[in-house]
Amino acid sequence: MPRTAKKSHLPVKELLGPKGGMPIVGLTAYTAPTARRIDSHVDFMLVGDSLAMVIYGMENTRNLDLDTMIRHGRAVAQAAEQSIVVVDMPFGAYEHNRDKALSNAQRVMDETGCDAVKMEGGAELAGTVAATVAKGIPVMGHIGLMPQRVRSAKQFKSKGHSPSARRRILNDAAAIAEAGAFAIVVEGVVETLAREITEQTPVSIIGIGASVACDGQILVTEDMTGIFDSFKAKFVKRYAELGQAMEVAVAEYAEEVRTRQFPSPEHTYKTRTKKAVQK
Ligand code: KIV
Repeated sequence: MPRTAKKSHLPVKELLGPKGGMPIVGLTAYTAPTARRIDSHVDFMLVGDSLAMVIYGMENTRNLDLDTMIRHGRAVAQAAEQSIVVVDMPFGAYEHNRDKALSNAQRVMDETGCDAVKMEGGAELAGTVAATVAKGIPVMGHIGLMPQRVRSAKQFKSKGHSPSARRRILNDAAAIAEAGAFAIVVEGVVETLAREITEQTPVSIIGIGASVACDGQILVTEDMTGIFDSFKAKFVKRYAELGQAMEVAVAEYAEEVRTRQFPSPEHTYKTRTKKAVQK
């Protein structure tokens, strides 16, 4: 049972915010079937803008529009019964104009029924996060490696190797926490930095490629189940090979169609006899 059972109606901040308990479990969900599968196992699901690459085959996450995020967000929020649902604000929808950020975040909340939004950005985004939180919209931050700033798979590189990079990311964590984010995703940073951020930041730190030192973890479901295999980051552990299993199933189906083994009688409607109809 997730520690965040939504039925408790506690604010998101109280469900995912407190540190020091059991590690928080997060996974992405882009569709209702996935949301239903993972709901009883996770504390929160993220309708991540990674869906641009995973579902739509784009090269990066920079060309996704708000309406697409809202459509996927609504499907997931309607399917999730227990876990918290967080929807990513897509690139261009919040980082340049605060009024636009507020109205777009409100749209995401109203039109999806989700519990919170996520925004990528460091200290420069703190004012927008604070204004969004002040409007009553829970915000999850996202610092370290920020995929919306990456144009190709080659640019997905770990962060925090130099003293100046460490200082900047620590400063980002402090600013986003101070702005009122209830939790912060920290992506692709070296372990010692992840540990320092987790120890110094008063809100929950959710790691992805940020070591076991964090307060919780998130992975992309299609990565950890082997459905998305265009590339695999070092931090991804494959818990299943569903992509391969799908190929085996599809090959068997194709063979059976070509040899007329499928559809067999058990998958075929027969004319009902009068006797059968009466029953
Ligand atoms: O879009 C996404 O899936 C994310 C996770 C990688 C944290 O932001």
